[in-house]
Amino acid sequence: MPNSTALLSVAASLAENPAIAKAIDTIVAEVRESQASIIGVKPPQDDLIQSYEATLEQFAKNKGRGPYFPYLGSGVGNGPLVELADGSVKWDMINGIGVSMFGHSNPEMIEVALRAAMGDTIMQGNLQCNEDSVEFAQLLVDEASRSSNLKHCFLTNSGAMANESALKVCMQYKGGLAPRVIAFADCFMGRTLAMSQLGDSAAGRVGLPLNMQVDYMPFFDPEHGDRSIEEALDQLKRYIARYPGQHCCFVMELIQGEGGFNLGPREFFEPLMKLCREQDVPIWIDEIQTFGRTETMFHFEQLGLGQYIDVLTLGKMSQVCACLYTEGFNPKPGLLSGTFIGSTVGLNVGRWMLQTLRDEGFYGPQGKIATLHEAFCEQATKLEKAHPDWFGPIPHDSGLECHALGHHGGIGGMMRLTPFEGKKDKILALVKVMFEEGLIAFFCGHDPYHIRFLPPVGVMKPEQFEPVFQVLEKAMAKVAQQS
Ligand SMILES: Cc1ncc(COP(=O)(O)O)c(C=O)c1O
Repeated sequence: MPNSTALLSVAASLAENPAIAKAIDTIVAEVRESQASIIGVKPPQDDLIQSYEATLEQFAKNKGRGPYFPYLGSGVGNGPLVELADGSVKWDMINGIGVSMFGHSNPEMIEVALRAAMGDTIMQGNLQCNEDSVEFAQLLVDEASRSSNLKHCFLTNSGAMANESALKVCMQYKGGLAPRVIAFADCFMGRTLAMSQLGDSAAGRVGLPLNMQVDYMPFFDPEHGDRSIEEALDQLKRYIARYPGQHCCFVMELIQGEGGFNLGPREFFEPLMKLCREQDVPIWIDEIQTFGRTETMFHFEQLGLGQYIDVLTLGKMSQVCACLYTEGFNPKPGLLSGTFIGSTVGLNVGRWMLQTLRDEGFYGPQGKIATLHEAFCEQATKLEKAHPDWFGPIPHDSGLECHALGHHGGIGGMMRLTPFEGKKDKILALVKVMFEEGLIAFFCGHDPYHIRFLPPVGVMKPEQFEPVFQVLEKAMAKVAQQS
């Protein structure tokens, strides 16, 4: 009689080992118990301030410049609350720009991570990957292909590398004969040499030799609605006529991230995509910031635009980044590879996060993410009503007031607030004061600037926006008083 355990691989029997399950349960229970004491905002501890500042100084010495705000995590948190190494506790409404979407010290996440940490390698790569990387890619392909022709998936270790891959795939598809790229004004694409040039940020290009040819398109303008759609289409026609056959792609963020959480409707994107199709200009969608956090896993699903997409990139909340492409865009051997795909823990935690979001009621118009957005809007409306003097008219590019912008907006887990007329100095000051008061958020947009929130949608509860807005109100009162 063969012993049934003899049929298992060593790894499978290790995974089923009750001693390991017990050890993991013990660790997770201890984490739960410790994190339970983290229940709200707390100031730094006197005895930790000095060493905290010394570490920040060390950071600045190492990098040649300090961090944007003095964030040094202690390594423990409780959902949307994070403990810093100085003992303070803050609401984390930005999560490393949208990465930790299941919050800090999530017990289920730790359990998955502990099991993954038993893996034989820390990092996986193109020459050495385990089954978990195939399962991760399969999940992405399954989700994407439900409503698009995307069929293949290349995993990589940063959004910028996913975008580099996408650009190369598009360029190779056009036989190397189409050097130009069409992109939206105010887009952000990452910080490699090519992406710094595609992204529309002057500061990101200082001192770099420019060798990419980018044609910028206006993004959807809610103030001008249909006229904005017609103008964009006319502009696209002009670019294509002026540089026939020279565009390797039109890269689009369907919601601009760094650009200001600007939304565009299907009616804006579809005519542009149709024209690209007619003219054989490949369509590459950058969902690195939007992925996972709107009312569908991919935002293109919500807009019903999947049929037009040739290449798509995603990252951030997935923990491991990816470039997906259709059969027709599958590149030749040698174009896409690299030492690292990501860490074994990242691959497993990323997959767990995506499965949880997919299977546990997060998506759809009544899903948990949409409910969170409503709770955010409710608090924002209350704040705007209580302090109308903090929410003056928001100027438009033209210098005129734009009523269509509103003082709060975004979609799903991408939320923005626009106090102080979106003035740069006030918004940047507010980000710093919020941090001091116990609320970590960031900014986005350029004239107007907005306060940007990427809360941990996987664990945030709608009622937690109330204490978050109490801290915000306190910080805003301080900034309002500054001259
Ligand atoms: C839309 C978009 N594309 C690309 C990137 C670059 O990703 P990474 O910082 O992981 O390289 C970002 C990062 O903020 C982004 O928001």
